[in-house]
Amino acid sequence: MKIKNLHLVCFSPTQTTLKVLQAMAAGLEIKPVVHDATLNLQGIVLPEFDQDDLVLVGAPVYGGRIPSQALHFYSSLKGRQTPAVLVALYGNCRVGDALLELEQLCLLGGLRPIAAASFIGEHSYSEEIAGGRPNREDLQLAGQFGRMVGAKLSADNFDPVEVPGNRPLAERKPAQPATWAPLTTDDCIYCGICVENCPMEIIDPIEPKNITEPEKCIRCGSCVKKCPVQAKYFEGEAFDRLMAYLNESCQEEKEPIIYI
Ligand SMILES: Cc1cc2nc3c(=O)[nH]c(=O)nc-3n(C[C@H](O)[C@H](O)[C@H](O)COP(=O)(O)O)c2cc1C
Repeated sequence: MKIKNLHLVCFSPTQTTLKVLQAMAAGLEIKPVVHDATLNLQGIVLPEFDQDDLVLVGAPVYGGRIPSQALHFYSSLKGRQTPAVLVALYGNCRVGDALLELEQLCLLGGLRPIAAASFIGEHSYSEEIAGGRPNREDLQLAGQFGRMVGAKLSADNFDPVEVPGNRPLAERKPAQPATWAPLTTDDCIYCGICVENCPMEIIDPIEPKNITEPEKCIRCGSCVKKCPVQAKYFEGEAFDRLMAYLNESCQEEKEPIIYI
């Protein structure tokens, strides 16, 4: 099959997922159409993909699944037996059932998963967990993976792959309102970067130290990572418990896995 259009589909608050998809597209040497829902989670509309398109579907792993707040977006994927590649970005702890969930959503939408991969991204909550990843080697591998997908399609090979995950996929628990959200120090310079980059649009544009609807915060880490003066931070018992777990169990760096 010759690829007509290459599409990248993702939700990527701290951009590690987007970076890996872009490196794959570079490997394929095709300029992609990017459907990034990060800052338009409610409004983005995906086209129906054609049989000779290729769709790279990437998602960050949240709690071993794809982020529940972006589920409706990934559920809106629609194709006509369009080949798809599934990519999960995880913060060096566990990829869990995220690839299996992406596979099911793609199949439901009429896409045809032909390859998959898990890559590692710097953890949303700490530069000390997989800091700087995806690094140069990861992105080189993503480029190679892109070329491998291109070769598979050139050979008209649409064989499915077996992705990891617990079968049958467990039903999702209803999303709970957030009990903690980022705080802000007096170092805030009112630049508005956090306001512009909050996927949930809940940082007050006039007083960015305030989160207007904290219960909607998905704790994606975008405002904390993007603040140019490190004024945003997480704090509290739940966060400390999580960090203790991350530091204890997720320090040893993992490697990407490709399924093709
Ligand atoms: C709410 C939340 C839950 C997360 N859960 C996991 C997890 O279960 N396993 C893991 O390894 N990383 C987990 N992470 C880390 C992200 O998967 C990782 O940092 C990823 O690279 C973020 O993708 P993005 O840069 O595209 O936003 C979690 C991050 C957040 C914000």
